[in-house]
Amino acid sequence: MLLAAVSAAGAHCAQQPAAPASVRPPAASESNATLEPRLGHPADEALVARWNLSVYPDGRGLPAGQGSASEGRPIYLARCAKCHGTEGEGGPGGTLAGRGALTDPEPDQTVGNYWPYATTLFDYIRRAMPMDAPATLSNDEIYAVSAYVLYLNRIVPLDAPVNAANLPRIRMPNRDGFIGIDAQLPSGEEPQR
Ligand code: HEC
Repeated sequence: MLLAAVSAAGAHCAQQPAAPASVRPPAASESNATLEPRLGHPADEALVARWNLSVYPDGRGLPAGQGSASEGRPIYLARCAKCHGTEGEGGPGGTLAGRGALTDPEPDQTVGNYWPYATTLFDYIRRAMPMDAPATLSNDEIYAVSAYVLYLNRIVPLDAPVNAANLPRIRMPNRDGFIGIDAQLPSGEEPQR
């Protein structure tokens, strides 16, 4: 019985792929002089850029590109509606649109009635959505679906291109519902309700 267990374990081990060099213990033939701490490799600029995705309320971090709600609508219907509803009314994913009161005992928080910054849309969609295939939209497509979600919330018109210059200037309806925010905002920000 014990023998069977050991040989089964042995067979299992034989099928394991060889450990990558970075985690393999040093071979007996390697001298101390060639041993280095095996802690990975320096992150080059391209690698850092892939992970450095934060977008700030003043627009820092937004890439070039643009898109309007009318361009975003077909992308949204194909990639987002199955989880968020065709009008952002909700489904397996959260409710994205609606301006219901936040004073209800169980308020339905949406982008339109809750989020203080429009720039968060670009950040969030770029890093996390569509949830079943994140990081598959181009920057233009992300601007376009962001514009469409804003349009569904009656915050931008259908054909206005949204881009790095104007997304930070959109004043979200619930901006003043937050206290103690110290985010830097662009000067000359205009209400766009
Ligand atoms: C497979 C389902 C699915 C798809 C497809 C999907 N989402 Fe989501 N989405 C979710 C879920 C689930 C959450 C909630 C995640 C959480 O709270 O951690 C979410 C959250 C969000 C939020 C934040 C909502 C909030 O108020 O916190 C936004 C904005 C959003 N999705 C936009 C999109 C957009 C735009 C697309 C299409 C490009 C998309 N989603 C596609 C499932 C999905």
